[in-house]
Amino acid sequence: MDARMDDAAGKPAIDAAHMVDLARCPIAGPDSAAGAAFRQACRERFLEDGLCMLPGFIRPDALEVLAREAEGSTRDAWFCRNTHNVYLTNHDPGTPADGVAGRKERTFVGSVPYDRIGEDSSLRRLYLWDPLKDFVGAVLGKERLYRFADPLGACSMNVFVDGGEHGWHFDESEFTVTLMLRSPESGGSFEYVPRIRGRRDEKAIVGAVLDGDRGSVIELPFTAGTLLIFGGRQTLHRVTRVRGARPRLVPVLCYGERPGLENSEAVRKLFWGRTGTERDPDRCRAEA
Ligand SMILES: [Fe+2]
Repeated sequence: MDARMDDAAGKPAIDAAHMVDLARCPIAGPDSAAGAAFRQACRERFLEDGLCMLPGFIRPDALEVLAREAEGSTRDAWFCRNTHNVYLTNHDPGTPADGVAGRKERTFVGSVPYDRIGEDSSLRRLYLWDPLKDFVGAVLGKERLYRFADPLGACSMNVFVDGGEHGWHFDESEFTVTLMLRSPESGGSFEYVPRIRGRRDEKAIVGAVLDGDRGSVIELPFTAGTLLIFGGRQTLHRVTRVRGARPRLVPVLCYGERPGLENSEAVRKLFWGRTGTERDPDRCRAEA
């Protein structure tokens, strides 16, 4: 058992039901009238905006424990620096280099893999808590969700150190669930242009955004303790460059519509530098 995150917190991990502000976000009792109304309101928000943002989802005392655990685990982040287009695809030489698919964005982000998230940590307890999984499914309109089976990517934590950023892109996965734990000293804003994938004017909008047009860009405030359920395949988004000594810490909770889903080994190699199946995995240290 890896209890380093708990040691780093200096406090015992907390049960998930006590982490979530259930008065504000009644997700543990979906059969109650309040729970049903809350789910419905969140579902409508997601359909309208392409995301559902819940500030104050985590109670302040639990937020402190989660954030301290997270800070204690950043040494286990693997850092990935690359360039990509907004579709995360290889550029087809048959398409014009100045077209949207030929434009390069820059990403520099670290990630702490699931097998470095403490077995008894608060974050892992939250991820393994069924009411959260079921609530996310209700917001997304999925009859049933399953936790990811990926040994590294099921529940990981993004670490943006000084200079870290995630360039404009659409996600490969339909949706993403993140938890805002620690804001950086400056930068690190989450910006998005909702639900433009597949629109007739998609390429024109993407091109304008890449040219710096801010007309359609929405900036999401970073409020620690916020849960974000986000339809990243339809919505162009980025994290702006982080500045300062304090890293931006955001766990990513992954779910799928079928049991047993994993990332490909190539994706694991890219984001964590290994496949997660090694007998004696190389420990990958943060190079902040
Ligand atoms: Fe993304």
